[in-house]
Order: sequence, then structure tokens, then C-alpha cells
Amino acid sequence: MALHYSNLAFLIAALLLALAAPSAATSSALVGINYGRVANNLPPPETVPRLVSSVGVGRVRLYDADPVVLRAFANTGVELVVGLPDRCLPSVAADPKEAVAWVSYHIQAFHPATKIAAITVGNEVLTGVNASTLAHCLVPAMDNLHSALASLGLDREVIITSAHSLAVLATPSYPPSGAVFRSDLLPYVRPLLAFHARTGSPLYVNAYPYFAYAEDPSGVALEYALLDPAAAAFTDPATGLRYSNLLHAQVDAVYHAITAAVPSSKCGAVEVRVSETGWPSAGDANETGATPANAARYNSNLMKLVAAQKGTPLVPGTPLRAYVFALYNENQKPGPSSERNYGLFKPDGTPVYQIAGLSPHQDGNYSSNSGFGGAGGGVGGGDGSLGGPDEASGYFSFSAASPVR
Ligand SMILES: *[C@@H]1O[C@H](CO)[C@@H](O)[C@H](O)[C@H]1NC(C)=O
Ligand SMILES: *[C@@H]1O[C@H](CO)[C@@H](O)[C@H](O)[C@H]1NC(C)=O
Ligand SMILES: *[C@@H]1O[C@H](CO)[C@@H](O)[C@H](O)[C@H]1NC(C)=O
Repeated sequence: MALHYSNLAFLIAALLLALAAPSAATSSALVGINYGRVANNLPPPETVPRLVSSVGVGRVRLYDADPVVLRAFANTGVELVVGLPDRCLPSVAADPKEAVAWVSYHIQAFHPATKIAAITVGNEVLTGVNASTLAHCLVPAMDNLHSALASLGLDREVIITSAHSLAVLATPSYPPSGAVFRSDLLPYVRPLLAFHARTGSPLYVNAYPYFAYAEDPSGVALEYALLDPAAAAFTDPATGLRYSNLLHAQVDAVYHAITAAVPSSKCGAVEVRVSETGWPSAGDANETGATPANAARYNSNLMKLVAAQKGTPLVPGTPLRAYVFALYNENQKPGPSSERNYGLFKPDGTPVYQIAGLSPHQDGNYSSNSGFGGAGGGVGGGDGSLGGPDEASGYFSFSAASPVR
């Protein structure tokens, strides 16, 4: 514990800062958290804004746009990213009226009491199991939603974006400067990038240094994957840029891939943000590194990295934005055990690992509040599906980009 005390102390300080001035552009206001709900034991959504606020997080990403959740966040000041579920893509892509209906029902009805900053269209649809039917719907759905927002006068307040697995990148994509999108995805990716450039919206990626480490624990230094400031740096031979952590390398790989896909684009013109990143606190026996201590280190290092408001080596002028995955452990997520153990909190609202130091917080006493008992709020609309085998290549291809211990 003592080993991690300074990280936790920093985290507390950063979170207190956010509480002191929740609406100002404080450093930790840049940190967000994913509120996934693939579980049958979560507390009701009404209790979540208090939990989120008690740890100073000002931004929350949802995987759907459930009216119950949107109502729960009304007048809290918490900024939301909401999701158009995958299953809605075909109809919204096919019919502008469907897009207007969706935006009226899920966005306009809650605006402005609920602060909705963005809609992510699907989650990882280009690499998911239904990619063959959904990929061609992506940009048309985004276009229709953007027009719908414009017709309702909301397009300046709400941006349209989408969140992608790093498996959109081809293998091998080492070093970051060598990254390119999978060539079979370029017919979808180029219009997507054009949409972002046209509307000024960022591209979101789900980036997990954990996957690279778990796949190749002897080839990827743990400290580099955990974003430890003391990790040995790696220099990209093509750019000469020094990478001191794997998350920066992953984000810059996406920037490089964008430039490779659209050579006329100025690097950084389409901003890359991290819609999900995190580290599991538990996993199967063969899931190396999934421990509470590593999860605590990763997430507190991440908070520091984001709070520093620094960009990546390649795009230093744009502060890196990231959403931690996830708020709760989700007991109904399929896949290896790690999938169900990314949460900072258990369903009862207590910290999963010793963020215990965090809990007796100045203005929240969630840890002493037993009111988060298991009443089933598990609506289960979310799907923050993490790297299954089909997604592996995108993450694993970064293994070689890190120094060997
Ligand atoms: C894929 O599409 C089918 C048919 O719409 C749906 O039942 C299934 O849940 C989808 N799978 C995923 C993982 O989204
Ligand atoms: C880990 O073990 C499980 C079975 O316990 C297996 O299904 C899975 O493929 C293994 N994963 C890796 C990365 O070896
Ligand atoms: C702490 O919890 C008690 C009992 O649940 C409640 O009455 C009180 O208002 C809470 N304090 C704060 C600051 O939330």
C-alpha cells in the first residue's frame, strides 16, 4: 500500500481540485469515466451522479441514451457522452426522419438540464461481430444525426462521433509512425475522417495498454504499460519522438494512420481522444498483470497524465483526453474474467481496490452509505466490449513498440 500512497494522494488532490471548481476547465475535469451497465446488480441510475461527483469526475460516457439515466444526470453539471446503440445504426442511416426522431427523444427532450456534449455512433462497429452489416451504415448514420441536430438547433452544442477499437489498425503497426488503418476498412475510414474534418469533431478510440502487456508480458515492460513516469522511454526511429508510455504510443499510432489514409490532412487536424482505457483488477490465471495494485497504478498514472494537460509527442499542443473504463465492475460481460473486473467500484459503491484512501471524501460519504445495496438496476443496455480474440491484433501490434526489460 505504501508504495502506491503517493499516487493515491495525487489522485485525491486532483479530485479535490475538480470539486472545488466543477465548472471551470480544471485539469481533472478532462478525465471522464465510462458508465457501463452490463450487470444485474448495479444500483439504480439515480444514485450514480452522487458517486461520480464524490470522486470529482465531471464527465461520463454512456453506451446508450436511456431516458432514466439522462434524467438522473439532469442539473448535476456532469457532462455526458451518450451512445447510439449499434442496433439503431441501420434505421438511422437509412432514414433522416429516424435520426430526427432519435435526437428529439434522446437529446432534445433532456436538453439543457442534462448536459449532453456528444453522441458516439455505435461502439467499435468497424471491428465488431456485425461489422459486415453495420460498417456501411456508420457515416450515413453520423451524417443524418448531424443534420438532425442542426435542424433542431443543437449542432453547436452536441457533436457526433464514434468510438473504435485499435483493431482498426493493420498489423504490424510498429513503431507508431508505421501505423496504417486496415486496408479493407479504408472505404469506411476515409469518409469517417472526412466527416470529422468537416464537422470539427474528434475521433475516439478505445486504447488498452493492458492488452499489449497481457499478450506479451516478457516483451512489454510493465512500467511502460502502466504509464509509470519512470519507465524507460522508447524512441520512434522514423520520427525521433520519445515515448515514455504505451498509451501515448497507441494514440500517436492513430494520428499516423490518419495521415497515411489522408495524406493531404494536417497531422492533428482531426483530434484523437480516448473513449476507453483502463486496467482490470482481476482476471483468469493466464491474464498476467490483472491485479488490484496494477489497476490502481494504471488509473492513477492515467489521471496524472491527463491532468498534466499535455499532448502526445506527435501532437503536443492538444491535451490528451480520456475516459476511464469503468465506473463499476460489470458481472454480465462475456469473455475472460478480466472483462468483468475493470471497475473502480463494486456495485455497492465501495472501491474495488484501495482507493479506500479516497472514500472518506470531504463532501461525499459514499463509502459509509449502504444505500447502494444490490437493488437491480441492471438494464444492461451498454456494451463496452473489450478486446476479444478478433480484436487482438490492433492492441498486440504495439508490443514491439516498448522497451524490453
Ligand atoms: C449482431 O446483430 C444481431 C442481429 O441484429 C444481434 O442480434 C446481435 O446482438 C448483434 N451482436 C452484437 C455483438 O452486437
Ligand atoms: C486463457 O485461458 C482460457 C481458459 O481458461 C482460454 O480460453 C484463453 O484462450 C486463454 N487465454 C490466453 C490469452 O491464453
Ligand atoms: C452523509 O450521509 C448521511 C447519512 O446517510 C447524510 O445524512 C448526510 O447528508 C451525508 N453527508 C453528505 C455531505 O453527503
